[in-house]
Amino acid sequence: MFDSIAIVGATGAVGKIIRQLLVERDFPYKKITFLASARSAGTTIEFKGEQHTVKELTPEAFDDIDLAIGSTPDPVAKDFVPWAKERGCVVVDESGFWRMDPTVPLVVPEVNPDAALSHTGVIASPNCSTTQMVLAMKPLHEAGKIRRVVVSTYQATSGAGVAGQAELVDSSRAALEGKPVENKTFAHSIAFNLIPQIGSEKHEGYTSEEMKMVFETQKIFGDDSIKVCPTCVRVPVSNCHSESILVETEKKITVAEARELFAATPGIKVIDNLSAGEYPMPKDCDGDDATFIGRIREDLSCENGLAFWCVSDNLRKGAATNAVQIAELLVASSK
Ligand SMILES: NC(=O)c1ccc[n+]([C@@H]2O[C@H](COP(=O)([O-])OP(=O)(O)OC[C@H]3O[C@@H](n4cnc5c(N)ncnc54)[C@H](OP(=O)(O)O)[C@@H]3O)[C@@H](O)[C@H]2O)c1
Repeated sequence: MFDSIAIVGATGAVGKIIRQLLVERDFPYKKITFLASARSAGTTIEFKGEQHTVKELTPEAFDDIDLAIGSTPDPVAKDFVPWAKERGCVVVDESGFWRMDPTVPLVVPEVNPDAALSHTGVIASPNCSTTQMVLAMKPLHEAGKIRRVVVSTYQATSGAGVAGQAELVDSSRAALEGKPVENKTFAHSIAFNLIPQIGSEKHEGYTSEEMKMVFETQKIFGDDSIKVCPTCVRVPVSNCHSESILVETEKKITVAEARELFAATPGIKVIDNLSAGEYPMPKDCDGDDATFIGRIREDLSCENGLAFWCVSDNLRKGAATNAVQIAELLVASSK
């Protein structure tokens, strides 16, 4: 058990859900501290019926903290993780900054829990679009070895934090009222639109978000031979990322086998009845920790291909839930 814990980025979209999860899951600790930028320092957060003053993120803020769960922008994580480590504080980090550092385990507890235990002070949680995909891939990879994945994402505005969700509402209202739409968080108006770019241009026509899906998947499975071809799209949905996933396996997996494999995997729920119009949709998955799978079908274009639809709450399993599960692994290993 960690006596003194901190939530870094406690005022953000992910930080808010981490606070809820610590209560829901009865996470053990004696003292809790909420850290954010100078902008929020001095404001109060109500937690378990008590008012807590948000403190500014500084090196000294970690003087008496044993475990920090961080969800801040990458440049902030770059700075604060060493401050915490120097003071003996273990960090579970949501940002993208540490994920591909070879000394940092990248963990989805249902997929590679043992990696968490080899940490040297920081454990990274994957990008939200990667987490739900690798969770879905895990039983198929074990049963038939995945050679190749083609994935198209339909990513909610909450993936860009509090500001992204607010921009969906503001720009939709402006568009409906015929007023000029101002976009700050997204490069184009997200109202009644799709934006086929998440992140910056990174590699041979792929964006940074797309390359995260490639590299993080290979790191989590410890298998660089898994080929991933991603297209990441921002959609006008407030919360929950959806993905159309096609996997090609070495050994054929039938639809019936896949359904059984998915249903037996912790963290996955199957909703798959096309004739009854039943499949996972963002509005139904909001607030749930599971990764939902439906529309399971054989690929008509390749022999060992399987196509399916996958939806998950990006603020929960894609971020906060995964981080808190990692912290729970650490608590369990320290007993
Ligand atoms: N949203 C998702 O679905 C998702 C999924 C997986 C991973 N992540 C990652 O999680 C991180 C947080 O995302 P989010 O969606 O929660 O963003 P957000 O809503 O914008 O929240 C950012 C948090 O970081 C704090 N922060 C920003 N600048 C800071 C600074 N200079 N010093 C200290 N604290 C600072 C903010 O504090 P103030 O309120 O004081 O500004 C806020 O608490 C990002 O790295 C993101 O990539 C997000």
